[in-house]
Amino acid sequence: MSVVPTRRRDSQTFTLRSFGRPVAFASAGRCGVARRSSSKSVARIKASCPKPVVRHDVNGTDPTVADRPDLVDDRRSEVPRTLAAAPVRARRDQRAARSRTLGRYSAPARDDFSGPVLPDIAVRYFLTMQGTPFRFEGPVPPELLIDRENELSTLAKRAGDRVGVRLIAPRRFGKTSLLIAHAAQLQTVGWRTVHVDLSRVTDMTDVARRLAEAYGALDDRWVRSHLAGLLARLGLSVGTAGASVTLGPRPAMPDPEAAETVIYRLLDLPQVIWEREQTPTLVVFDEFQDLLVARPDLDGLLRSRIQYHGDAAAYVYAGSEPSMMRELFDSRERPLFGQADPLTIGRLPIEAVLTELESRFRGEELDPGGALAELVVVADGHPQRVMLLSYLLAEQLEEGRDGTPETAGRVVDLALERTQAAHQALWSQLSRSEKVVLAGIADGVAPASRALAREHHLSRQTLYEAAERLVDQGHLTRDEAGVRVVDPLLLEWLRRR
Ligand SMILES: Nc1ncnc2c1ncn2[C@@H]1O[C@H](COP(=O)(O)OP(=O)(O)OP(=O)(O)O)[C@@H](O)[C@H]1O
Ligand SMILES: [Mg+2]
Repeated sequence: MSVVPTRRRDSQTFTLRSFGRPVAFASAGRCGVARRSSSKSVARIKASCPKPVVRHDVNGTDPTVADRPDLVDDRRSEVPRTLAAAPVRARRDQRAARSRTLGRYSAPARDDFSGPVLPDIAVRYFLTMQGTPFRFEGPVPPELLIDRENELSTLAKRAGDRVGVRLIAPRRFGKTSLLIAHAAQLQTVGWRTVHVDLSRVTDMTDVARRLAEAYGALDDRWVRSHLAGLLARLGLSVGTAGASVTLGPRPAMPDPEAAETVIYRLLDLPQVIWEREQTPTLVVFDEFQDLLVARPDLDGLLRSRIQYHGDAAAYVYAGSEPSMMRELFDSRERPLFGQADPLTIGRLPIEAVLTELESRFRGEELDPGGALAELVVVADGHPQRVMLLSYLLAEQLEEGRDGTPETAGRVVDLALERTQAAHQALWSQLSRSEKVVLAGIADGVAPASRALAREHHLSRQTLYEAAERLVDQGHLTRDEAGVRVVDPLLLEWLRRR
């Protein structure tokens, strides 16, 4: 695999000879990346994004990252600067330094509960953080967040105006990481924050337990005096030290009535706090669509409480299933219809990713050579995939390999080895028409094209509907470049089938 210039030997257009299949790319900077671009779309993107991203050396085969310090904002550049400040320090010491930086996110001591509280989910993740700047599992702390400044300022404005936000993005695009950073920025101006993880809740007891775990940390005195008895019936206890609510095993006999009462009371907690001390609360419901699995009318219950919160709280609903989120907020008959402003997060801009990752490799005292640029292009702005590929590249470099195109190819092979079970599982649950659409897109054929329909004896309407289902499930996205496979590793897996 190699990156070579194509059409014009300039700084913005190059071809990735990816596994025998030349693919044209145009770096589009903050405007995103055009993949398999036609010369027209390359020209359009070049016109709107005049700044160069990838430079080629004299013989045109070795792209290097352009020096663009202006693209790294001050807040994020602090981390690489700190690391770069000790060039001779052993990597272990650097990791320890990073852990110390993250240490300020530890849970507050029990006696300090009057202050802002970091989301429980964040505390858990940060305390068990991998000692790597290329974290690829779970949310990343604000220091490791690349780009997303616009989304953060939109979220801050909406919170200030108490306008609800629904955040929709494909799996692993950084929803939770963004919301943790959002919470962290609000905490600095005195807000309390709650992060409720609703993923895979199955019944009312689950919902109540997740809410109690998250809201419980807001105000343990109130929780203790008002809810301790009810919480015990849900297998939760109010501890005497550390976090205020401790999760025990699920009770053998779930008590849906106790669960419902707990849900009502906890949902009102931001209002109680507001009346007592005028402190606003940010409440994030993560994987919000799963709420309806527990009970199909729970969005109504939620609305019935939070509609009176006014200045007391700002709400964010995050989800990765576009169809379910649409059903919740865009259907006239649903209680939350029109209640939250849509916000989507897309692929990361290639130049911001390259600049930041180059810097992180430098901080690790590793030279990624041209391999990094190649892998960033393969990842195509997918946040988790670019971090996974970087992590694997760092491992290869640490083992003594050079940052060559061969190493980049090896990294992609390793990433596919790690992820192929998931691709296979997805493939086996798809209908025939969905398989035809996905495989067609991987081969560069439009989903509802006459040729594809003819080849597989399917109607174009059937193929169109199959593509829509895949978009709804978050496997495909539609943008100005057409329909694209969300996961670049799935795309590569499909091509190699
Ligand atoms: N802005 C970003 N900068 C750097 N890495 C990111 C960013 N966004 C996401 N990531 C990467 O993606 C991974 C997943 O992030 P996160 O858990 O926040 O995504 P998510 O959308 O909440 O995922 P899920 O759908 O599984 O809940 C992180 O471990 C990190 O590697
Ligand atoms: Mg998440």
